[in-house]
Amino acid sequence: MTNKSAKLRADKLFHNLERMSVSPLIEDGDEDTARIVALHGQTVEVVADTSRQPRMKKFRFQLLHRWLTHNFAPCKAADIGGGKGLLAYLLSTNGWNTTVIDPIGQALPIKYKDLSTDTRVKIDPQATVPHLDAEFAPGQAAGFDLLIGMHAHGCNAAIIDAAATYGCGFVIFPCCVIGEPFYPPLGVHWLESLADYAIRQGHTLRPFRLNFKGQNIGLYSMGRCKSANQRIDE
Ligand SMILES: C[S@@+](CC[C@H](N)C(=O)[O-])C[C@H]1O[C@@H](n2cnc3c(N)ncnc32)[C@H](O)[C@@H]1O
Repeated sequence: MTNKSAKLRADKLFHNLERMSVSPLIEDGDEDTARIVALHGQTVEVVADTSRQPRMKKFRFQLLHRWLTHNFAPCKAADIGGGKGLLAYLLSTNGWNTTVIDPIGQALPIKYKDLSTDTRVKIDPQATVPHLDAEFAPGQAAGFDLLIGMHAHGCNAAIIDAAATYGCGFVIFPCCVIGEPFYPPLGVHWLESLADYAIRQGHTLRPFRLNFKGQNIGLYSMGRCKSANQRIDE
């Protein structure tokens, strides 16, 4: 190896290590996903939104809720690493049966913004969503049709594996690589590496981008889920 190629390799290695170590700490997490227009040879479908500007990250649940209800028929879903459960709550208003699987139990938020009416909506203080107080283990997927992981730390590969084993669909918005069973190869983006992993597990995969700041690229596979036969055309 020449000095020049050794230096190039060292620079690339350093950049990759830096990205792997820094990205989990970036609050918005938008680092280099903005430049991704295709994954594994498939164009990342940009989902239309009424706002042309990227919305704040806190609106990710409303945007994903709208996308899910336009693309999937109501089903039994697990929101893995679902945090406060807002997505599960919103889906329940459309007849979905969604359980949050998260080792940390948190109360639902007291209100949220309805993006279609631009109004604040209060959540009944008595309202709850089904919650499994546990770290996600692939065997839990047996009872679900769809596995959802919005920025679900360390759960992306496990979700892909579980969906392959049980025939579930999945929708994941990967953020960092921390806690996952493998790292992307040198020079390969984590999203590309996960997409490749999912395809090798036999999934038919589609990438899409929602209109919020940060890690806004999702990967999905229908599995046995039924399509809602609707399109977002707002
Ligand atoms: C970055 S937060 C994302 C929460 C929520 N989905 C959101 O977008 O705000 C990551 C969540 O994953 C949960 N979590 C961490 N390890 C987990 C595991 N092994 N199984 C399930 N959830 C996990 C955490 O408790 C936390 O709620």
